[in-house]
Formats: sequence, structure tokens, C-alpha cells
Amino acid sequence: VLHFTKKLIQAPLAGFSCAPFRKLAHQWGQPDFCCSEMLSAKHIASGSIQRKRYYYKDPAEGPLCIQLAANDPNDLAIALDAVLQWGPDMIDLNCGCPQPKIRKKRYGSQLLADSAKLGQLIKTMKSLTPIPVLVKIRVDNRSGDDYNQSVAAAVQEAGADAITVHGRHWTEDYDVPVSYRDIAAIKQAVSLPVIGNGDVFDTASARRMFEETGCDALMIGRASVGQPWIFDQIACELENKSYATPDLDEIGRIFLAHVQGLMGLEGEKIALLQSRKLLKYYTRDLVDIHSINHAESFGSFSMLERLVSQFFVE
Ligand SMILES: Cc1cc2nc3c(=O)[nH]c(=O)nc-3n(C[C@H](O)[C@H](O)[C@H](O)COP(=O)(O)O)c2cc1C
Repeated sequence: VLHFTKKLIQAPLAGFSCAPFRKLAHQWGQPDFCCSEMLSAKHIASGSIQRKRYYYKDPAEGPLCIQLAANDPNDLAIALDAVLQWGPDMIDLNCGCPQPKIRKKRYGSQLLADSAKLGQLIKTMKSLTPIPVLVKIRVDNRSGDDYNQSVAAAVQEAGADAITVHGRHWTEDYDVPVSYRDIAAIKQAVSLPVIGNGDVFDTASARRMFEETGCDALMIGRASVGQPWIFDQIACELENKSYATPDLDEIGRIFLAHVQGLMGLEGEKIALLQSRKLLKYYTRDLVDIHSINHAESFGSFSMLERLVSQFFVE
């Protein structure tokens, strides 16, 4: 059911992964699909998901995977009924979120400690959705290969169509390098497609993930923010074709298109607040951000346009 063309996928990123962000990835990089941010099945089931950014799918975006956090099959069933109306192409179950408040409620990475519950949730999804069901997990390099493999086997037995594996334990932050070895062990244990995730920033790290884990596709998170073309760039470079990244003028226009998309979704005030966070990713080390990071620049969209025309020049 699940077919990868580019073998590159945009990761779910809370605070970023809404329609305008995904649309830019589709226009510039064409990953196989993009993900929504994590949405609580309980909140959806109770009707409390109200912000448009959580449910809006743009007609101009590419394939979309909506990610749910759930721990109760009844909530999940009710939520799925609503979510399927939003037009997703796939559904993903979050089993990786490390936040204490999520774990305490037995969601996210906490599900990895309860294979029976995990299997039950996946079966619920499979029985109610005609579209592919994915599961995003983390490795457990503390409890060893058996543990990793039994979680992966539970996911497979329950009927998931693919498994995404972030190569870090839930206690590990980004300063700890990804464990390719643990992702490889999971790949070995299952026959369903494995999507490797973690620390893919460029073509060299993408090649390393493919080679060291044998994964079928890979998922890119942080490196896709402010660089929506990265999927196309990596795909080209993996085939030893050269890729010309957009010049600074173009990057400025992409940044403004992103902010404009957010304005359409949430209004100017919220979009301008978010633009501050985005600017860091669009400038990366190309523009001296400190010289532009003062409050007035973010006062209105036209001020932001002026700022871009001043600083996003070669
Ligand atoms: C700001 C931020 C928000 C994230 N939100 C989610 C989320 O909602 N759901 C999820 O499964 N993972 C989330 N993640 C984890 C990423 O999807 C990904 O697994 C992780 O960043 C490793 O990939 P990377 O090295 O390519 O960034 C988030 C990560 C970051 C940095």
C-alpha cells in the first residue's frame, strides 16, 4: 500500500508542521509525504481541537500523514471518524513523545512499555481506516535488542503498514547522537517498511542512515525547517547529481511566502510572532541574524518585507 518514490519524508514538528510549511516542502522538495504535528485523539474526540492549523489541509499540498497521540481505543475511534474528513493520506500513531506530561498520561513514548495496548491501538486504526497506518517509535538502547525487536514485532503483528524509528531513547536529547545500530536491529526484525529518523541534515548524513541501518526511507525533521528544498537536494545528490540551492533572494521570498501562509491561517499577529522563530531557520548562517532581530522588524508584514529586501541579498 505504501510506496516510496523519493524515500524522503518530512517529520512531524510541533509548532511548525501546518499546511503552509508542508505546502512549501511539497513545492520545493517533494518529499513522499509530510506529517501534521501530534494531535491528541482525546481532544479531537471531545471537539476541542479548534485552531485551523491543526486540521486544515491545503489543496496545493502533497500527501499528508496526520499524527495522533492516543491511549484509549474509544477516543481513537471517535477521533478517526473526524480526522478522516480532513483528507489525510495516512495516519500515524505517536509512540515517541518524551515529554513528562504526555508520558504521565500514558501517551507517546510511554506506549512502548505496553505492547498489548500498542497493538490494540494499531488494530483499532487498521479496522477503521482504509488508508495506511504508520507508527513512529524511538529505540530503546537501554533494554537491548530483544526489547526493540519485541516492540517492532508487536507493531508488525498488529498490522501497521510502516514503522518510523527515531534512533534515540526517550530520555535522550539531541546532544546524544542517533543510534544507527538500534534502527538496524529493528529493520532486521520486521518485514514492513522501516523509516529511519534522526540527525539527517545533509546528503552525507542521509547516505549514512541508509547504509548503516538498511532503512527503506528516511524522515527529516529539523533540517527541513527553512530549507524546504532539502528533500530534492538530498535525492539529487544521492544520485551524484549536482543541486543548486535557491539563492538568498529566493530564500527571502520563500520565508515571506511561509509567513503569508501563516497569516492566511491564523491572522497577521500570530503569523508575525511565529516569523521570528522561523527567521532563524531561513537565515541559518547566511545572514547575520543579530543585526535584524529587533522588535520593529516584526511589527507588520510590510516591515518584514522591507527587512527581507534589505538583508536577503547576495
Ligand atoms: C520542535 C520539534 C517538534 C517536534 N514535534 C514532534 C511531533 O509532534 N511528533 C513527533 O512524532 N515528533 C516530533 N518531533 C521529533 C521529530 O519528528 C524527529 O523525530 C526528531 O527531531 C529527529 O529528527 P531530526 O534529527 O531530523 O530533527 C519534534 C521535534 C522538534 C525539534
